[in-house]
Amino acid sequence: VSRLIQVVKIGGSVLTDKCSEEPQFAWQQARRIAGEIGKLSRLPVIVHGTGSYGKPSARQYGYMNGKLSRRQADTISKVSSILESLRMKVLETFRNEGIPAVSLNAGSLFVTENGSIVDCHWEPVLNFVERGVVPIISGDFVTDRQDDFSVCSSDWIASHLSVSMRAHRLVFVTDVPGVIMPGETGKSQPQTIAADDIQQWQSAEPGVEDDVTLGMQGKLAAAFLACESGVETFMVDGTSAGSVFEALSSDSPHATRFVAKKTAREVGVQ
Ligand SMILES: Nc1ncnc2c1ncn2[C@@H]1O[C@H](COP(=O)(O)OP(=O)(O)OP(=O)(O)O)[C@@H](O)[C@H]1O
Ligand SMILES: [Mg+2]
Repeated sequence: VSRLIQVVKIGGSVLTDKCSEEPQFAWQQARRIAGEIGKLSRLPVIVHGTGSYGKPSARQYGYMNGKLSRRQADTISKVSSILESLRMKVLETFRNEGIPAVSLNAGSLFVTENGSIVDCHWEPVLNFVERGVVPIISGDFVTDRQDDFSVCSSDWIASHLSVSMRAHRLVFVTDVPGVIMPGETGKSQPQTIAADDIQQWQSAEPGVEDDVTLGMQGKLAAAFLACESGVETFMVDGTSAGSVFEALSSDSPHATRFVAKKTAREVGVQ
């Protein structure tokens, strides 16, 4: 049985100016989204990405493969201070909208092995939200069983938490309304995407070189893990006003929906 818990992953693409080489918080957009979440009758678990607070450091310190060794302890600490400053701004924004939020650290909730989450302490997260306090977790460094440390993507945090907590719905908020499929061009639109469609896409698409968490490709894999485990999974364009509120409150939001398998109707069979 799914619980009436919702998880929202707010992308660094909407909370920060993601193209900036310097950390740059997108105050106005963050405030608007926090306001939309504040209007919900049931508050969600919030996970957020790091945008221009995370990606430039990975390039600068050379951990684009997401792995760090204990010899990079100074890097871990230095970059963590940048991520902490982002979390402070996110917390402040949500508190200013009247949301009772606390920050929980990914490094104390998750352990990875070869970069994949293998240990997920979801119980405290669920406990907080069930008691009316909104936990906020960001993408971060965590310890890894094989390598010493890894970059734990907020897309995977959101997806693993949703599955473990048996959440009802997971919403990825990013800066595009849908996914452009191979061979397609132009602007993406809200759509239904089945895991079957994506298999062909992933083999066609080369790796994403400039993003340690693999951009859209990583997000799709995380989204399919959730929908295949029975979580209603959506993606919305957070740059469009009202979309976050709708995605978390409507029974059938106008959003990109991830489904485990194409249904007969979707492939055009009567
Ligand atoms: N096939 C595709 N369809 C749609 N968007 C794509 C595609 N390939 C790459 N993208 C890019 O993926 C981006 C969204 O992923 P990105 O990781 O930048 O955002 P995010 O996950 O919201 O931010 P963060 O990783 O900081 O949390 C979009 O801005 C878009 O430009
Ligand atoms: Mg991303």
